[in-house]
Amino acid sequence: MSVKFVETALRDGHQSLLATRLTTDEILSVLPELDKAGYYALEVWGGATFDACLRYLNEDPWERLRQIKANTKNTKLQMLFRGQNILGYKHYPDDIVEKFVEKSIENGIDIIRIFDALNDLRNLETSAKAIKKYNGHLQIALAYTTSPVHSVDYYVDLANKAQAMGADSICIKDMSGILMPEVAYKLIKALKENIKIPINFHTHSTSGLASVAYKRAIDAGVDMVDTALSPLSGGTSQVATEAIATLIGDESKLDFVHLKNAKNILTKIKDKYIENGILNPKALTPNPQILQSQIPGGMISNLLNQLKAQNALDRYEEVLEEVPRVRKDLGYPPLVTPLSQMVGTQAIMNILANERYKLVPDEIKAYLRGKYGKAPGKIDPEFRKSIIGNAIVLDYRPANDLEPQFEKLKEKFKNIARSEEDVLSIALFEPVALKYLKGLKDEVIEFTLHTGDQS
Ligand code: CO
Repeated sequence: MSVKFVETALRDGHQSLLATRLTTDEILSVLPELDKAGYYALEVWGGATFDACLRYLNEDPWERLRQIKANTKNTKLQMLFRGQNILGYKHYPDDIVEKFVEKSIENGIDIIRIFDALNDLRNLETSAKAIKKYNGHLQIALAYTTSPVHSVDYYVDLANKAQAMGADSICIKDMSGILMPEVAYKLIKALKENIKIPINFHTHSTSGLASVAYKRAIDAGVDMVDTALSPLSGGTSQVATEAIATLIGDESKLDFVHLKNAKNILTKIKDKYIENGILNPKALTPNPQILQSQIPGGMISNLLNQLKAQNALDRYEEVLEEVPRVRKDLGYPPLVTPLSQMVGTQAIMNILANERYKLVPDEIKAYLRGKYGKAPGKIDPEFRKSIIGNAIVLDYRPANDLEPQFEKLKEKFKNIARSEEDVLSIALFEPVALKYLKGLKDEVIEFTLHTGDQS
């Protein structure tokens, strides 16, 4: 059985284990070996890497991409892109989304994997169209979660719609690592029977069952798998590339000599991050409890941090029990950024106020007004009204309301932006991008949204 490999160490691997801190030089040091190893693609950009470059490393993410491209001769480059959110946490206007796609492809990206936290395909329309327009490979990822509405049929239906949008491939994206092996088998099998385009499977080792899930996905005929080279695998990252390649045998088409050379380079780099404390050994320990609670590890640490700050750690168990109730009230959103933070904060407020929905954050009100997109399940109209009153609920794509912004930003920052790429950096992460461009190297204060980021 032939399965293609997408190597994630240089994006998801270090985002999951090293707080996205790999520098461009470190990436370039291992790239030639990875490029010769026979992968279908290397995931190297997008997700949190862009922000981390500017915020923590004082590096230009666009320059990183150009250098990666210049040093990759044989392998396709892939990035992760949150649809209308691009690499940020809010909806951006269509012209920014289109320009970002154009520049990503121009600077070296071949495959763009897009997804929406709610699986609202309207939020992928603009990026999907732009990827086709600039001749990129459009991969639409479906965020995996469990709930009464998230059945195999739901995902097959969604995949059909994604295929109709022009997707070149589909990815089942299990960012929390909760997809059970037999469900993986049934899901991939159903997709293979109903979908013409290739299917990729992405999960995380979090629960300890991911390699079994990969095996069952491969049994069901999955076309591609996302794995991370062993030094950056395990725990909250992916399963080790070498292990799955050995499982498959010769059909993996991977060259073990180059994999070993790459492993040796990455091991030395990893040792540095163990020594300086960025790699927390806890991130490598399996967390099977997630299979019961369905609450992603990053969200648990967020809840604990918030409760600690409020001096209310004794109410942790109550909050854990409140999370699924809030999720049900909100129509079962997948617990991914930013919904995981929103659901968690609401659960804490409900418990600490000793009254449900006495306090409601603005983000939850906006969600109930349809400003993030359509909820996967039904929301009780009475419940909705009790929170937002008679405020209008959007029945259209939220970004329809956003005015074009690119030319305005280009004009406003013409004295500091060196290129259209710089304008895009400013559009997404204005304070950190400006600080980078002004050449200030002071540490920027971290903002909490990044703790527990799941993708
Ligand atoms: Co991931």
